[in-house]
This record gives sequence, C-alpha cells and structure tokens, in this order.
Amino acid sequence: MTERKTVVITGANAGIGLATAQSLAAKGYNVVTVCRDKSKGDATAVELIKANPGIQAENFTADLSDLGAVQKIGNAIASKYGVIDRLINNAGYYPSAIEYIGDTEKTLFTSHLGHMLLTQLLIPSLQRSVEARIITVSSALQHRPLF
Ligand SMILES: NC(=O)c1ccc[n+]([C@@H]2O[C@H](COP(=O)([O-])OP(=O)(O)OC[C@H]3O[C@@H](n4cnc5c(N)ncnc54)[C@H](OP(=O)(O)O)[C@@H]3O)[C@@H](O)[C@H]2O)c1
Repeated sequence: MTERKTVVITGANAGIGLATAQSLAAKGYNVVTVCRDKSKGDATAVELIKANPGIQAENFTADLSDLGAVQKIGNAIASKYGVIDRLINNAGYYPSAIEYIGDTEKTLFTSHLGHMLLTQLLIPSLQRSVEARIITVSSALQHRPLF
C-alpha cells in the first residue's frame, strides 16, 4: 500500500481552498488546514474526515497577517508532520476599504509575508517528500495598472 500524501492548505474553510481540500481528501490525501477562525477550521477538518473515512485532517488556527501566530502554528505543523508533500498558499481577501497594520497594508501581510514565513517554516518537511510542490494561488488583478 502506498503512503498517503499530506497537503497543507491555507484558507481551507471556504471557496477555492475548501474545494481543493475536498478534492484532495477524496483522492486520499491527509489534509492540514490553516484557518483564522478556529470553529470554521475545526468543522472543515471534521467534514473532510466524515466524507473520506481513512484520511487524517486537522486544523491549525492562525490569521496569516499575524506573523507571531504564523510562527507558532508553522513550528507546530513542522514538528508534527515530518513529511509534507504539498503546500497550497491560498488564503487571501479583497477588503472593501484598505486596512493597515502599522503603516503597511494588511493584504501584504496576509497574502505575502504570512505565507512566506509559513513556507520557510515548512521547507524542512517539504524537503523530506519525494515530490514536494508549493502552490501559490494568485490573482489576475496583478496585471491591472494601478495608476
Ligand atoms: N475567486 C476568485 O475569483 C479569485 C480571483 C483572484 C484571486 N483569487 C484568490 O484565490 C484565493 C482564494 O480565494 P476565494 O475566492 O476562494 O476566497 P474566499 O472564498 O473568500 O476564501 C478565502 C479564504 O481565505 C481565508 N482568509 C482570508 N484572510 C485570511 C487571513 N488573514 N488569515 C487566514 N485566512 C484568511 C478566509 O477565511 P475566513 O472564512 O475566515 O474569512 C477563507 O478561508 C485568494 O488568495 C484570492 O485572492 C480568487
């Protein structure tokens, strides 16, 4: 029997992240979700296992814009999951008004810095996989001129 692969997905309780988690769970992946709302993340993990008995699913709670929280759960995931086969950096949001952390736009923390830190912390586990992949969900909005 081949070993199950393990995927880590951020923002897995809704939208593209949830659909990806459901699809990979149905293919037999163990799924680690990173969600900012503990109750939504835990409920997603429970639903994934219910729909796919035999897989493991577990949620770690962190807001990607909170680098301290990302550091904490990144270390926890890395120490629990020695081998990670897929990291899907998916979480993101489109605020109705620009939000800031200090002088910096919050989206920079959520979409980039939080995911960069998480990726860095999970690199050792990804390197132990025979065919690791890091997937970053982006947006076509990057092609729109700002000014
Ligand atoms: N759908 C599109 O047409 C489209 C187009 C371009 C790019 N994208 C990109 O695709 C990705 C997924 O989008 P989607 O359409 O599936 O969006 P969605 O349905 O709104 O889901 C976004 C997910 O990200 C989570 N999230 C948002 N901010 C977070 C934070 N600070 N920390 C942790 N989790 C956070 C949300 O958690 P909560 O449920 O707690 O809010 C949710 O689970 C995003 O990166 C988005 O920028 C989507």
